[in-house]
Parts: sequence; C-alpha cells; structure tokens
Amino acid sequence: MPRVSAPLVLLPAWLVMVACSPHSLRIAAILDDPMECSRGERLSITLAKNRINRAPERLGKAKVEVDIFELLRDSEYETAETMCQILPKGVVAVLGPSSSPASSSIISNICGEKEVPHFKVAPEEFVKFQFQRFTTLNLHPSNTDISVAVAGILNFFNCTTACLICAKAECLLNLEKLLRQFLISKDTLSVRMLDDTRDPTPLLKEIRDDKTATIIIHANASMSHTILLKAAELGMVSAYYTYIFTNLEFSLQRMDSLVDDRVNILGFSIFNQSHAFFQEFAQSLNQSWQENCDHVPFTGPALSSALLFDAVYAVVTAVQELNRSQEIGVKPLSCGSAQIWQHGTSLMNYLRMNWKVLPATLNSTAKARGPTTL
Ligand SMILES: *[C@@H]1O[C@H](CO)[C@@H](O)[C@H](O)[C@H]1NC(C)=O
Ligand SMILES: *[C@@H]1O[C@H](CO)[C@@H](O)[C@H](O)[C@H]1NC(C)=O
Ligand SMILES: *[C@@H]1O[C@H](CO)[C@@H](O)[C@H](O)[C@H]1NC(C)=O
Ligand SMILES: *[C@@H]1O[C@H](CO)[C@@H](O)[C@H](O)[C@H]1NC(C)=O
Ligand SMILES: *[C@@H]1O[C@H](CO)[C@@H](O)[C@H](O)[C@H]1NC(C)=O
Ligand SMILES: *[C@@H]1O[C@H](CO)[C@@H](O)[C@H](O)[C@H]1NC(C)=O
Repeated sequence: MPRVSAPLVLLPAWLVMVACSPHSLRIAAILDDPMECSRGERLSITLAKNRINRAPERLGKAKVEVDIFELLRDSEYETAETMCQILPKGVVAVLGPSSSPASSSIISNICGEKEVPHFKVAPEEFVKFQFQRFTTLNLHPSNTDISVAVAGILNFFNCTTACLICAKAECLLNLEKLLRQFLISKDTLSVRMLDDTRDPTPLLKEIRDDKTATIIIHANASMSHTILLKAAELGMVSAYYTYIFTNLEFSLQRMDSLVDDRVNILGFSIFNQSHAFFQEFAQSLNQSWQENCDHVPFTGPALSSALLFDAVYAVVTAVQELNRSQEIGVKPLSCGSAQIWQHGTSLMNYLRMNWKVLPATLNSTAKARGPTTL
C-alpha cells in the first residue's frame, strides 16, 4: 500500500506521579458515530480510559470517567440541550463530535463561554475557523499543515504542473497555502470543481485531454474513492498518473479494484505505528468492527477514533501536570448561570503549549522522506 506516513497521532504516555485524592476526573464526549459499522469512537475512548485507570502510577488517584452522549442529528438546538445536561456534572473537557459541524460549533461556543476546553477531531472548516474560540483545540491537522505537506510531495516529485479536483466550494480557501506556492513559483495548477451532480466524469475527461499527470483530490474519503473509480473506468490509473489525496483517511481507502497497480497513489497516514499501544488499539477496533459490521472488511482505524484516544490522554495528562502547581478543582456549572470554570484558561494554555507535535511532523515527513510508491 502506498503511503507517506508521518509519525503519530498517539501521544506517548507521559503520566506523572501526582498526589491526588480518589475523586473522579470527569470528561464528556458527544459522539455522532453510528452504532453499526462505527468508526470505533466509543471503543477508543473506553480503551484510553481503561488504560489510564489501570496504569500503576494512578493507583489511589482520581478515577477517569468519560460520559458519552449520542448525537442523533447535527442540530444546534439538541446539542445545546445536551451541553446543559453536561455542565452540571463538572467536566474538565468536552470531546467531539467528529462529523457534525453545526453541533460542533455550538459546543465550541458554549465551552467558550464557560471556559471549558473543547477538543475537536474533525478537519477544519474555513468559515468556522475564523471565529475559533480560545477554549477550542482541534487535534486534526490544520488545512495549512495539509497544504504544506502536499506542496512537499509536489516538490519531491519536481512536479511543475498539477490539477486540483475540489469537492467543495471552500476548497480554495482551505488550500490557500498550496495555491500561493504555485503563484510564487509560476508553476501551473489548474483547479476543477465538482458540480452538484457529484459526477467527476467531465472533469476527469478534461484532465485527460490536457495531459495533466498529477492530480490532487481534495474531498472526503468516500468521494475520493468515487473519483478514483471513475478515473479507472476512463483508463486514467496507469503509470502515467499520480494521485494525491488530501484527506487523512488514507488507511480507510480501498484500492483493490484498481486495474493498473503501477499508478502512484499518495496520501497521508498520521498514525504512529511504533507507539507501544498501536497494535492493540488497531486489533481492538478490528475485532469490534467484525462484530458489528460483518458485510464490509475492516480497512484500518479511523483517524477520529485515534484522535479521541489521544484527546482523553491529553486532558488527563494536562490536568495532572497542572494540578502539581495549582489545585484543580472541578465545579458544576449550568446553562442558566454566568459562572465559568476558573481553571479552563490555564488548562488551555498548557495544552496549547504542549500540542505542537503534529504540524511539524506532517510537514517534515512529506519533505524529508518523500512518498513511497507501489
Ligand atoms: C489535584 O490534587 C489534589 C491533591 O493535591 C487532589 O485532591 C485533587 O483531586 C486533584 N485534582 C484532580 C482533578 O485530579
Ligand atoms: C528532482 O530533481 C532533483 C534535482 O534536479 C533530482 O536530484 C531528483 O532526483 C528529482 N526527484 C525526482 C523524484 O525525480
Ligand atoms: C463526502 O463528500 C460528498 C461530496 O462533497 C458528500 O456528498 C458526502 O455526504 C460526504 N460523505 C461523508 C461521509 O461525509
Ligand atoms: C511514536 O511512538 C513512539 C513510541 O511510543 C514515540 O517514542 C515517538 O515519539 C512517537 N512519535 C511521535 C511523533 O509522537
Ligand atoms: C482484522 O483482523 C483479521 C483477523 O481477525 C485479519 O485477517 C485482518 O487482516 C485484520 N485487518 C486489518 C486491517 O488489520
Ligand atoms: C514546512 O515546510 C516549509 C517549506 O517546505 C517550511 O518553510 C516551513 O517552515 C515548515 N514548517 C514547519 C512547521 O516545519
């Protein structure tokens, strides 16, 4: 399988000895993961929680609890109601959801007002990003990171002509950094937008007629797969072509049906396969997948589940670390009052200082190692 793998998402476990009384340390997660053929988000949160609670250094310390709330639809109103149930529990952070933008945005706003950290695990949305609250931390690599990584691959290939296929209107804003690089260098990038019919055939034919060999696809995993299948039908998956996927779900993409295995298909996988827990993590998700989704093969862990695993670790670690210098008390809040959580800002400052790993990694890997082809 071709891939440019930047090292990890999984945080090394830097749990530190702290004197804690055995209260519980409560986190809330709001998930939109379907029950059947799920992305494994509930399971990975449970894996993280159990692994933390069972660590010998946590004996006698506050037990980590994660309350999971199911989101039935992407609704601001319903999510706001859910947040009003969560706040009185006294949580140190709210995690998720991974694919409901409206809900995610209302959670960010409420968390912002109450000064409770909110961990996002979804790709940035341009418009929302402009107003991102201080208490929101997105563990998913940013559009800038992805742009720079794609530019790194193009440089590696000495590629001066490429075509960008966009599934969504905000594509050009998302990849602004990549476009800028083309402008400066005077290399050629042609941009083609999918229309409302979502049929890539006309675009692909134009690209074939232009003889553009490098095709960047900025779309989610399912749309990227559809585009590739169409390209195969049009005879565009030969050794002549290189496809670069900007979505980070490369490990979920099935390439089995492609005819010519000499075609270059590149994407990013940001899992740290050398993390001590990675194999067990992937196996647990695989097993759970087989139990509730027997008609489709398991292709690999979803990024959102790995990011939620990391989020649980990040919160617990940050609270423990901070608790060494100031006693972190948890306090019930409510939608009706103006009370805030007084430790939220220091927790965010700590997290922001300590979550610098990913962007640099994604960047340098694309540059230094270059892609491995089939
Ligand atoms: C912080 O430490 C104190 C004791 O030093 C402990 O009572 C408290 O439970 C800890 N807080 C958290 C959130 O772990
Ligand atoms: C790109 O160009 C450099 C210098 O011209 C060359 O050394 C390198 O092998 C080229 N890379 C590829 C992937 O063709
Ligand atoms: C993927 O993107 C397409 C087109 O942009 C959209 O119609 C579809 O709902 C998306 N699928 C998922 C799972 O987000
Ligand atoms: C990947 O995991 C290994 C083992 O836990 C760790 O030493 C390394 O720092 C991780 N890489 C990154 C980029 O976090
Ligand atoms: C999932 O597990 C099955 C066996 O239980 C194995 O054959 C398969 O290769 C695994 N898939 C992945 C992607 O790890
Ligand atoms: C990423 O790479 C670009 C050029 O390839 C470089 O200018 C930039 O400083 C790098 N960023 C990081 C965070 O390493």
